[in-house]
Amino acid sequence: MSKLINQSSKLRMSKKLIYSLLIAAFCISAIGCRYDMQDQPRYKPFKESDFFSDEKAMRDLPENTVARGNLRENKAFYTGKKENADPNVQVETTMDEDGNTVVSSFPNAIEEFPIPVTKELLDRGEQRYKIFCMVCHGPVGAGDGMIVRRGYPKPSTYHNDRLRNAPVGHFYDVITNGWGKMNGYASQIPVADRWAIVAYIRALQISQDPNSKMTMDKSSTDSAGNTDNKDNADNAETEKDSDKAESSENKDADGGEK
Ligand code: HEC
Repeated sequence: MSKLINQSSKLRMSKKLIYSLLIAAFCISAIGCRYDMQDQPRYKPFKESDFFSDEKAMRDLPENTVARGNLRENKAFYTGKKENADPNVQVETTMDEDGNTVVSSFPNAIEEFPIPVTKELLDRGEQRYKIFCMVCHGPVGAGDGMIVRRGYPKPSTYHNDRLRNAPVGHFYDVITNGWGKMNGYASQIPVADRWAIVAYIRALQISQDPNSKMTMDKSSTDSAGNTDNKDNADNAETEKDSDKAESSENKDADGGEK
């Protein structure tokens, strides 16, 4: 009797074994026969190839190729620098309030805003300034932000002659590349927003200097105080273009336009 039970359980065991072998074989064959797109013949970048005479699989880019969304033709807008900027040009220095020697001339920086300064731009600048800059530079740019009050190095106020006379391109450059102890914000603040912040800083400077002769934008008021409509229409056009460039740049999300 016990022999019989033993035999039938053995039979069951071997049936189980056969089934599992069959399933395993099916799985292996199913995977083994898969020939999908991920296995297609293709070249990896920088690999060699005997198809081309130079034995490189990658083709050389035609000269002056620009990656999509990276055509930064408008140098003033993207760098804040003059067209014929000279990196070796001598700069002047002065002594600041604390007795440090500081740069006081910015010969390569553009003097005028590369985009029209509008109410919208200033509003945007105010909002961005309060997000990114106020924590250190304080609500009116006196260098007394909350982080500074908690011990971070104190930046100089925006309301001294050196920074009042500094061209707009300098402020743009500081935001983009940083300055001394301050980090650059290129990866966090898109180009157009940087100009918006610069415009707002100018507004802050004017607000703290009642006798200021500073103007926001030379092109918006000519000597007779009239606004040149045609000029403004042209500018509006450029702004639209730069917006487009901006949005494609943001899509790239590379953040590096230095
Ligand atoms: C974490 C603190 C901090 C933040 C945030 C910050 N700054 Fe600064 N900033 C500084 C410090 C510190 C200095 C002084 C750097 C030095 O002279 O070494 C400075 C200097 C400057 C200067 C003066 C450059 C000169 O010529 O002396 C400008 C302009 C400026 N910052 C603009 C900005 C703007 C615009 C933002 C916002 C996008 C910003 N900063 C955000 C700390 C900060």
